[in-house]
Amino acid sequence: MSFWWGAATSSHQIEGNNQHNDWWAWEQLGKIEGKVTSGKATDHWNRFKKDLALAKELGLNSYRFSIEWSRIEPEEGKWNLEALDWYGSLLGECERLNLMPMVTLHHFTSPLWFSEKGDFTSDLAYHKFGLYVKKIASTLGNRISHWCTFNEPVIMCIGKYLASFQPPGIYQPENCSKLFHGILKAHVRAYDLLHSEIPQRRGPWRHEPLKVGYAHNLMDFVPARHWHPMERFLTFVGRSFYNQSWLDATTGKKQQFGITGLVPNAQEVKEALGRNTTDFIGINYYSKAIMRWRAKGELFETAPGFPFGVGFSDPGEPISEMGWGFHPAGLGRMIRFVKNYGLPIYITENGIADGADTYRKEYLKNHLKELAREIKAGADVRGYYHWSLLDNFEWVKGFKPRFGLVEVDYETFQRKPRASFYEYQSIIRAHEGGYAPPQEKILDKL
Ligand code: FCB
Repeated sequence: MSFWWGAATSSHQIEGNNQHNDWWAWEQLGKIEGKVTSGKATDHWNRFKKDLALAKELGLNSYRFSIEWSRIEPEEGKWNLEALDWYGSLLGECERLNLMPMVTLHHFTSPLWFSEKGDFTSDLAYHKFGLYVKKIASTLGNRISHWCTFNEPVIMCIGKYLASFQPPGIYQPENCSKLFHGILKAHVRAYDLLHSEIPQRRGPWRHEPLKVGYAHNLMDFVPARHWHPMERFLTFVGRSFYNQSWLDATTGKKQQFGITGLVPNAQEVKEALGRNTTDFIGINYYSKAIMRWRAKGELFETAPGFPFGVGFSDPGEPISEMGWGFHPAGLGRMIRFVKNYGLPIYITENGIADGADTYRKEYLKNHLKELAREIKAGADVRGYYHWSLLDNFEWVKGFKPRFGLVEVDYETFQRKPRASFYEYQSIIRAHEGGYAPPQEKILDKL
């Protein structure tokens, strides 16, 4: 079995002019740093052929992207056939270039009509999402083997209703739990539909077993001071609430999403009880999360009303444009943790915001080395998707953080591979042209 060497993107961050979703509307309210809007983003909508050619040049054999629901169904019940065609062409390019598509159905953005009715907190959300999933399954579905229903469900719950980095960005802990419930229910619906509704498979990956999962963000939680009881407790909360609850719920272990005194327990989703509703676990890993009681100062992100802060780097260490330190060992730890669930693993995202490309080569190599060690120790990791192929619209941070292996000039939309692009290319080549999983002895020689 070959290893999937990939890169990842998402619709709203690259396509441009996604005018019918909740993020677009939120951007117009001046919610993004510097009051920018996603606008044309990278103009990928018009340049996807060039972008996939770059993915091919990089040596990838897989590409993770998302389908934009608000393009497919800009108004409730009205299907946009042109948009479906466009994704058909994107898949066509993937087929032509031998890039196995890993397709995400929901990557943070919801159609505006859907979000105005409560997004996934509303009772009928799972059904409405299901109609969209059915549409995709019946039109494009037979060409796709690997699916992520949702990207980072827990981040959505936090970003929307505990913190304020996703629309609507209001503090409503009850809605945080409701959202978890709604997303879980919609995920299960999508899981079942994809397994039952996809017609006879065709195309280059028709023999690949159908795999439906998700991309879940995991952070390596640590206390700022190991002796501090509150910080140890916060670390425990981080690990269980943030890392574990979604994994437990989608593997039928238990449903427990809540924080005593802060976030009420989410209502159970009956359809998810006692069964696996995922065929793999996708890990999005970026950094550690340092938990600090009564945090002050720049290193910690705090929210009014919370007596603690979360930091993403240690004092004095180099940081990325996101302010995150580098902590490859955490990737190993997250893989060991996820391994307990006994499912195949994909690293669905891992990368660094580094416009000058100072650290990306090292970052890439060090994380791949961790991965190589875990694979050697028996972890069933099937693929690695670097975030991201291109510079893109980094949500509430706008265009400043540059995650791309390829640099984008936002005036001319010219693409220019960074040095790390060629580093990744030579890493892939050294692994039997991208067919072998990462190996430490090969990485060490490069
Ligand atoms: C993840 C998101 C992705 C991108 C990276 C940097 O949380 O899934 O869209 O923004 O972070």
